This record gives sequence, structure tokens and C-alpha cells, in this order.
Amino acid sequence: MNSATASQPYQSYRGLPPLAGLATHAEAARPGLSVEACVARLKRYHYAFVRLHEILTARITAEPIYELKTGFSHHSYLCAEHVAAIRDRVAEMREPPLGLEAVPHPALQVFFDEILAAPTAAELLVGVYEKALPALDRELQRHLIDTNPLADAPSVRLIRFARFELADMLAFGKQCIASLVDEPARRAMQPWLQLLDACLTESEAGAALASGSRRNLERQHSAKPYVYDPVPKRDERWQDSWNQGVNAESFIYNPEYPPQPKTLMMLYKRLREIDVPEMMASIIHETKGKPWNYYRDMSRQLWDEARHAMMGEVGFVALGIDWKQARITHNWSLRLNTECTPLERHAVLYFIEQGLMTRTGKRYEWELGVESGNPLMATIQDYDWADEVLHAQLGREWYIPQIGEWKKALDYGDKCWSKILSNWQEVRDRGLTQHENWWPAIYRQACRNWGIEPDPKVLAFSESYEGQRADLKTVASSA
Ligand SMILES: [Fe+2]
Ligand SMILES: [Fe+2]
Repeated sequence: MNSATASQPYQSYRGLPPLAGLATHAEAARPGLSVEACVARLKRYHYAFVRLHEILTARITAEPIYELKTGFSHHSYLCAEHVAAIRDRVAEMREPPLGLEAVPHPALQVFFDEILAAPTAAELLVGVYEKALPALDRELQRHLIDTNPLADAPSVRLIRFARFELADMLAFGKQCIASLVDEPARRAMQPWLQLLDACLTESEAGAALASGSRRNLERQHSAKPYVYDPVPKRDERWQDSWNQGVNAESFIYNPEYPPQPKTLMMLYKRLREIDVPEMMASIIHETKGKPWNYYRDMSRQLWDEARHAMMGEVGFVALGIDWKQARITHNWSLRLNTECTPLERHAVLYFIEQGLMTRTGKRYEWELGVESGNPLMATIQDYDWADEVLHAQLGREWYIPQIGEWKKALDYGDKCWSKILSNWQEVRDRGLTQHENWWPAIYRQACRNWGIEPDPKVLAFSESYEGQRADLKTVASSA
């Protein structure tokens, strides 16, 4: 405290918090960062979040472990939101042209290219959650220390919010690494981790370093360009992935069956939606050059679909049902990812989601949830319905303009889906599945939990997808 204020210290009115609660006068009296320096830093955070979004999205489809698949779906979405927030902030700071597509430092590019190309889940996890995210968090923390809390309050706000979510992401990653990365695996990746550290040090040394002074940053995993794997993979809990032996829609829409067992088919349909993130990740990864809000909105939808799958999982677990006895096909995401273009996939997705907006779509599923007497089921379907209304809006915003007007876009979706004719017979002939009827095993488990005897008529349900058009045009399906 200097002598001028020591004699008569400055006081807020009746000791109220000064400066709208942002900081003390002493803190706000530090000059802090210039706008130019602040923007330069924001662009680094922006680049990091863009690359993390890219990396996590790219790994969703081919990552077999369900907890990682859904975790990456969540975190890629969070990154997309922080990218959007930073872009808005930079635009407020005398910055047109924004220059947000520029790489802040070549070493940073190598750093993220290496993580994108990590050949194993262990390396990916350590690269993202022990290297990239902690480095980003340290930089954000430094920003809060270095900047003027009053003058730069809008940046401080978005950084505090980002760090709040980064803390959750870091905690998730730490637990994943503890479960999946053992000492030998960690030892084997040491040379690579040293490269990552060297990249960070180099990039943090800043622009002052001439490119000639760069230390040895020889690419390892990214020496060959990364190739996206569009083939969905599942862990060992997901058996018989070609099985199309139980026609859930046929059961749900048959008025002769009561609501209670229909909730099991709805939970199955929710869990089966894990194929939507697997498919949407491929659209996002393979569609380049869109405005950022496209990626943000598509990532939001992808994350919603991962949540829908997890809501199905939660519903089964809450009923004490071993969902592994159901057969959850990967047919839809596999075929769309390997037989259709990204635009065709988007068209199919839109076509399906439009179908969910009818009287027999999501509203009907919610009504079933309410009638079933299972309050959790009502909650699941209530939010699932709300999410799907949002998805139909997002489709109107991003898909329809790529085709033209609404009717044309819808017809195109119908046509694209018709390209994928049912492979029920073919996969059976190839010995990939016997289309086993898993329904009685799931229904019996539920009856035990409900303390009732199985209804013989319900137990006997045995309709498969044989002979159905793959798009099941008359009923609601995936998504
Ligand atoms: Fe959806
Ligand atoms: Fe969904």
C-alpha cells in the first residue's frame, strides 16, 4: 500500500464489494495485458480447442470402449462450445480480419498432429489428458493472473467457465488413464511423450525464437499423415453386432402389447443409438470448410445421441437388467460410413429425424413412457423428444440449404436411404450372425425385477427385421 492511500484508504460505500465483485482495487490497478497480447493468447487457446475437438471427434467411431466413445462425444462437444465462445470474444476485440485459422506456432501443430495420430487408446488418453489439456489449463490460469480483471472481464469470464469444464475433463481422463494405462505401456511411450513436451516448450518459447533455432521436433506418429477409420468398433460387451433379430418398432407400435414391456424395447432403441455418434463423427470429420457453428451444432447433436444411448443404459441398469444379453447392431453406422458420402449420411439422418416429428414418433414414445408407470422412462423420453425437436431444427439450418428446399432435401434423404437395401439375408448367409431372438432373455430378466410372471404372448414375440426395408420407412428408427 503506498503512502497516499495509507493515510486515507479508499473505501467502497459502507464496505460493499467494490468493482461489481470482479476484483479488489489493487488487482484492478495492474495494467495487465494489452488487447493485442490478449488476442494473441486467445488465438492459442482457440487453436488448442479446435484441435482437441478434431482429435476427439475423429476417435469416436473406431474407439471400441463404450465409456471412451461416450466420453469423447462429450468432450469434443465441450471443446466445440469453447471454440465458439473464444471466436466471439476475439471478434469483439478490434480483430477483423479474425485470423483464427492461422496456426499460432508450428511446434503446436506438430504437438496436436502427433496426438491425432496416436496409434493406441493409451497414447491418445495420455496425449490428450496428461499433456494437451493440462498445458491448455496452465495457459488459461496464467491469463487470469496476467490480465486486468476489470478491463478484460469478458475474457476472464469465458476462461473461468472453460477451466471449470476442463477440470471435469481432466478428472475423467485421469481415471481412464489409471484404469487403462499400465507401467509397461507408459514406459513404451516415453520417447513420444518427450517429443510432446519438446513441442510444448518450443511453442511456449514464442515467436522470438527463429525457426532455425528449433530443437529436434522430428515427427513420430504423425510422420505419415493420419488416416480416419470410419469402421465402428465396440468392446467385448457388445456381441453379435450384425444381429437384426428383434424388430423393436414392430413391438412398440403393436397395440396388442401393453406399455410396460414396450419400455424395454424403447430402452433397447435408446442404447442402440450409440450408432449415431459413430456415424455423425464421420460426417463432422469428413466435412471441411464449414462455418464453426456447423461443427458446434453437429457436435451438440452427436453428444445428444450419445446421451440417448446412455439413457438407455441407465434405464436397463436401474431395472437390474443385463443389457449385454440384447444384441445391439452396428449395421446402420457401419453401412452409412462405408457406403455413403458425408452428405448422403446427413440426408439419411435428417430423413429419419423428420419421421420422429410425427404423431407416432417421439410424442408416442413419451406417452408410452408415461403410461408405463416407470417415472424414469417418462423422463428419458421427455428429454429425448425435446432433443429430437432441436435436431430437426439443426437439420433445417445445416442440411437443407445444401440440397435446396425442404421437399427436395427430404426426398434426397429418402433416396439415399433406399440405396442401403436390407442385408438381413446376406449377413446370415455369410455366417456373420444367426439373428438370434434375444427378446425373451431381456423380458424374463425384467419380469424377475418387476416380480411378475412373464406374459406368454409378450414372451413369444419373435419378429425380426427380415423382409423389412432397411429404412423401416413406416416407423421410427435410429436417431
Ligand atoms: Fe437425434
Ligand atoms: Fe436420439
